[in-house]
This record gives sequence, structure tokens and C-alpha cells, in this order.
Amino acid sequence: MTEPLDLFASDPTDTADPPPDLETLRARAAGCTACELYHDTTGTVFGSGPPQARLVMVGEQPGDQEDRQQAPFVGPAGRLLDEALDEAGVARDDAYVTNAVKHFNFRYQGKRRIHETPKAGHIKACRPWLDAELALVKPQVLLTLGATAGKALLGSSFRITAERGEPRAWNDMTLVPTIHPSAILRADPARGQDRDEMFAGFVADLKVAGDLLS
Ligand code: URA
Repeated sequence: MTEPLDLFASDPTDTADPPPDLETLRARAAGCTACELYHDTTGTVFGSGPPQARLVMVGEQPGDQEDRQQAPFVGPAGRLLDEALDEAGVARDDAYVTNAVKHFNFRYQGKRRIHETPKAGHIKACRPWLDAELALVKPQVLLTLGATAGKALLGSSFRITAERGEPRAWNDMTLVPTIHPSAILRADPARGQDRDEMFAGFVADLKVAGDLLS
């Protein structure tokens, strides 16, 4: 049993003056320098969606497009997520979408910026913003997309293949872990990965989350 969220217990940015709303929180997060990722990016990609959403989706980190457009899940993975949500009958516009890490972590390959998985230190540094978003939105259902988001909230023992699609109580919410849409985009038949099967499994997990919304 996890402890209820203590809104700003872990927030190094301000314990005396908790942000009253998401806009205040967003403004504070824009100036975050808690890890080195802010150096080379356009800015903090904060969550987006209705402030009282019943569903929150948490991804890994913004990608190249998200960093350029300063919004979560607007690139290729976001388009696949939209397609799957549509098929699952879950409205993205009713959900609040955010990431475990709010700056793009990448390396250059020539001029291209190539995604790098965030390190434990990046996730830890960013966690207060995620906790604060969750405490303000107070969703009923929390959907984690991929291993990074799952581990960020459930700990390093989280195993996506064994635990995906299984709802569990987490603080005052029900958390449903699923795969990351990028895993479907990268599906490799040589490794026995079938894109259509993966997409169908992803849709099934999204339906589990959707059915929990009352
Ligand atoms: N992948 C993520 O995890 N989040 C985004 O916002 C975009 C791609």
C-alpha cells in the first residue's frame, strides 16, 4: 500500500507556497533547472489537457517534435496514440497527457536529434512536477505508457510485459500500465514482433483504462 500523495513534500522548488493551479505550476516548471536536460532544448514540455480530467496518461519524455512544438505526444508516437485511443473509444481531449521527464533527452547524429532513454536521475529530478500535476488534476485513472513511466511511478521492479493491462490501486487512483506507442512504431518482425498484434494489445489496454472511468 503506497502513501497518499503529499503534494509538495518532494518538491524542491517551493514548499511554502504550493501552486494553486496547473497554470502556476506550468509557469514554475518552465524555469526548471533540476537536471542538465534544460540546457539544449526548446523548453519544459508541460502536460496538457483539462485540469479536472478523469484520465491522466503519462509517457516517457518529449521527443523531437514535442520539444519543437512544446506539447506532449504531437509527433509520430502521439499520432499512433490518437489512432489507438480512437479505436478504444477513449477521447484524448478528455484526458490530461504528460510525461515522466519534461525535457527532451537526445544525442546528435549529424544534425538529427536522436532520442536517448532518460536516466534515473532525470526521472527523479522531474518527479516533483509529475506528483504536483497528479495532485492538482486528481484523476480517477492513471495510464502509464511504457517502461519508463511505469518504473517512475511503480519503482524499478516494474516489469511491463508481466504487468501491462492489469489495473491496480495506486494512491487514490487506479493505475493501468501499458506499452509505449513508440514500441509499436519500432516493431521488428525479425524479433517476432507483429505490429498489428501489438497495436491490438495496446488498444485492449486502453479499453481497460477507459472502462474504469465512471
Ligand atoms: N514519447 C513520449 O513518451 N512522450 C511524448 O510526449 C512523445 C513521445
